[in-house]
This record gives sequence, structure tokens and C-alpha cells, in this order.
Amino acid sequence: MVRMDTILEVRGLRKDYAGAGGVVHALAGVDLTAARGQFVAIMGASGSGKSTLLHLLGGLDLPTAGQIIIEGRNLTALNDRARTLFRRRRLGVVFQAFNLLPSLSAEENIALPLIVDGENGEAVLPKVRALLETVDLAHRATHRPAALSGGEQQRVAVARALVNDPAVLLADEPTGNLDSRHAQDVWQLLRRLASQQQRTIVTVTHEAAGAAFADRIIVLKDGRIVGEIQPGGSGDAALVATRYAELAG
Ligand SMILES: Nc1ncnc2c1ncn2[C@@H]1O[C@H](COP(=O)(O)OP(=O)(O)O)[C@@H](O)[C@H]1O
Ligand SMILES: [Mg+2]
Repeated sequence: MVRMDTILEVRGLRKDYAGAGGVVHALAGVDLTAARGQFVAIMGASGSGKSTLLHLLGGLDLPTAGQIIIEGRNLTALNDRARTLFRRRRLGVVFQAFNLLPSLSAEENIALPLIVDGENGEAVLPKVRALLETVDLAHRATHRPAALSGGEQQRVAVARALVNDPAVLLADEPTGNLDSRHAQDVWQLLRRLASQQQRTIVTVTHEAAGAAFADRIIVLKDGRIVGEIQPGGSGDAALVATRYAELAG
């Protein structure tokens, strides 16, 4: 029997915000597990709680109630300092806006988290080269972000997010700034990372064509999970769009 390593476990997750019109239940009790090598997408209408969930998974904020357990460590029980360290060492994060440093080359951007963590430049080079290969950008190593397409910049950002060999790669709308062709490259890269390198990926998106490359799609509505779609990485966007309309509508 194949052993399913649970990497991520979310239990009874709630997040309330104090709004002008009273309390907003951004997350109203979310339970979720993800196994090693699983690519999980989160879909839902604007305001359904997607970014809140990803923020909490990323240790950027604490929930009102509930637990987040990553690699057996209860993130919600760590103090600020330990949570910050955990975030830096065990989580990889990709942003919609790429967030690369404009004055650094692709390889320098990728190496930066390790350099900041005290490793020396020579020692990190083989790792950076391997990551450039993984994201198909070996030929762009010395280019600065301005000389790269949006899709290439986001692939550099993915490589940077992987440089610490994180337990989980988190991405909030990673293709939100890309045209559909470049978006497709990024989705196929994420698919490969899960299938070939056993990376565990959690991403928020509203694009059915991208989410269809995930193993599972969790659908959120008003802070709750209302269903799951299992495209199994097929890329079948029509199936996802139909099922999503049924669940979210
Ligand atoms: N910092 C905040 N303060 C107050 N309300 C917030 C805050 N962040 C999110 N919300 C509210 O929580 C709900 C969920 O927001 P969010 O997680 O950003 O949804 P999504 O990413 O799905 O669009 C929304 O009603 C939003 O207005
Ligand atoms: Mg959002």
C-alpha cells in the first residue's frame, strides 16, 4: 500500500475580522489535509476567504481559533519568533506580483534567501543552477527581471521559493499578472513540481484552466468549504468550470 504522508493539516480554522458593520467571519471553520506531493488549488468568489486562508497557512497571521499543523509542527502554537523562522525555513511563498529585486539577476534573486540565512555565495551556486534548470531558465541566469517576460519572472520567483526545500509551496493568484500563454507555463511548472519532485503546493486561483492542473480543488464560500473537485492534474478546464459553477453558484 502506498503511504500517504500528511504534510499539512488544518483543523477547525476560524478567522474573524472586526469590520465597520460588525464582525466578519472570513473563515468559519475550515478542515483540510494535504499529502506530500499533492497540488491543491483553492477557488471561491471574491471575499470567500481564500487569501485569509493562505495568509494563515503562511504563518503571517494567527487564527481566531483552530490549528495549522505542517510537518507535524503546530504553527499556531509557536511564538512570533519561532513562527517567523519556520516561515523562512519551511515555507515557500509565491506572490501575484513576483516581488523580485530589480537590481539582482535571476540567479542572485534565487540565491538571496540562502545568502540572507548566512550561506556563502559559492556554496549556493550548484543549488541555484539546479533550480534554474528545474524552471527551464538556465539560459536566463544572469538576466535582471526587467529583461525577462512576466512568465519568466514568475518562474524565477518559484525557483526562489524552492531554494530552502520547503515543506509547502504557497501561491496566491500566481498567474494573476500574466497572459494566458505565460500562465499556462506556470501551471504546468507547478504540476511538474508536484508530480516529479513530490512538492506539496497550495495555491489560490480563480482560473479554471490553471486549477485544472491541480490534484484537488477546494471550493470556498463565505469562509467554509462547500465542496471539492478532483481533476487529478488532468488540465480539464471544462470539467472544472462546470463543477465549480455548481458548487459556488
Ligand atoms: N484585514 C482585514 N480586515 C477586515 N476584514 C478583512 C481583512 N482581510 C479580509 N477581510 C474580509 O474577510 C473576508 C474574506 O477576505 P479574503 O480572504 O481576502 O477573500 P478572498 O481572497 O477570497 O477574496 C472578506 O469579507 C474581507 O472583506
Ligand atoms: Mg484574495
